[in-house]
Amino acid sequence: MTWLITGGAGYIGAHVVRAMCEAGERTVVYDDLSTGISERVPDGVPLVVGSTLDAEHVTRALVDHDVSGVVHLAAKKQVGESVRQPLVYYRENIEGLRVLLESVTRVGVPSFVFSSSAAVYGMPDVHLVTEETPCLPISPYGETKLAGEWLVRATARATGLSTACLRYFNVAGSAAPELADVGVYNLIPMVFERLTANDPPRIFGDDYPTPDGTCIRDYIHVADLAEAHVAAARALRTSPGRDLTLNIGRGEGVSVREMIDRINAITGYDRPPTVTPRRPGDPARVVASADRAATELAWKAKHDVQDMISSAWEGWVRLHPSAARG
Ligand SMILES: NC(=O)c1ccc[n+]([C@@H]2O[C@H](COP(=O)([O-])OP(=O)(O)OC[C@H]3O[C@@H](n4cnc5c(N)ncnc54)[C@H](O)[C@@H]3O)[C@@H](O)[C@H]2O)c1
Repeated sequence: MTWLITGGAGYIGAHVVRAMCEAGERTVVYDDLSTGISERVPDGVPLVVGSTLDAEHVTRALVDHDVSGVVHLAAKKQVGESVRQPLVYYRENIEGLRVLLESVTRVGVPSFVFSSSAAVYGMPDVHLVTEETPCLPISPYGETKLAGEWLVRATARATGLSTACLRYFNVAGSAAPELADVGVYNLIPMVFERLTANDPPRIFGDDYPTPDGTCIRDYIHVADLAEAHVAAARALRTSPGRDLTLNIGRGEGVSVREMIDRINAITGYDRPPTVTPRRPGDPARVVASADRAATELAWKAKHDVQDMISSAWEGWVRLHPSAARG
C-alpha cells in the first residue's frame, strides 16, 4: 500500500513521511514546494512536484504510484495572512482539497487523512475542548479548515471513502534539527527570535482569567503528531468506512509565561518578558480533550514541553549558529 503525502516537504509533512516510513509504509510526496523544502524528503521517497489544484497532475500521481491512501497536509497556514488574503486561502485550502478529493474518488483511493486544526473552534469558552465543542472559527484560515472537514465528510458519506480529520493543537519541536520549522509564526520561535535579537520576549496580555493571567495553550510535539497520522492511516486501512474527527493534543495546558520561563532556562538567555496589550482574537485558554484519539487510535503523546523547546532550539541554532550561548 502506498500513501501519497501532500505537503510532505513541509514542516509537519516531513515528520509524517518519516514516521510512515519507519512504520514500514510506502510513501510518495506530492508538494508544490511553495513553502516546502525538497531536501526534507528522505532518500528513496519519490517527490512529485505539483499543486493540488492541478487535477490532471494529481490524478496521474495517484495512478502512477498505485496510491491507496492520501494524507493531505498541503495548505497555507498563517492566520494573519489569511485575513489579508482570504481568497488565496480559499483557493489553496478549499479548491485544492476539492480537486484532490475529486481525483481520489475518481481513481478509487479508499482512505483519506485530512490535516485540520484547533483553529476550527475559534474562541472556545470551555475548560477542555472536545470534538463536540461548537466550531466557530474566527479567521479565514480556520474557516478553510472547517469547510475542508465538511468536504471530506460529505465525500465520505457519498462515496464510502474512509476518512480521518485530525485537529492539531499547537505544534512544536522537531524530530531532528534539519526538520525544524523554519517559520516564526508560533510562540516558541517568536520567543527565540526576540531572545537572539537581544529583545525581551513579549507577552500579549497578562489580564486573562487564568492562574498567571497569560493565555494557556496545548502544545504537541510534531513527532507525536506524526505518530497520530500513522495510527490514523492504519485505523482507516484495518477498519474501512470510518469517518473520524479527532483532537490531536496532550490535554495539558501551559501558559505563555510558563513557556517563556522554560525557554529562558533551556536557551540560557534568561531575559524577563515584557507585557504588552492583548492581541485581538486570542482566547484565554485552548486545551484539547485528547480522550477520543486515545480511544479510537490507541495513540497518546509521549513528549513533554521540555522536549519540544529543546528540539526546537537545536533546529533554531542550526539555522542561526550565532544564537548559541556558551
Ligand atoms: N504548524 C502548525 O502549527 C499547524 C497547526 C494546525 C494545522 N496545521 C496544518 O498542517 C498542515 C501542514 O502545516 P505545516 O506547518 O507543515 O506547513 P508548511 O508550510 O511547512 O507545509 C505545507 C506544505 O504544503 C505545500 N503546499 C502548500 N500548498 C500546496 C498546494 N496547493 N499544492 C501542493 N503543495 C502545497 C508547501 O510547499 C509545504 O511543503 C497544513 O495543512 C496546516 O494548515 C499546522
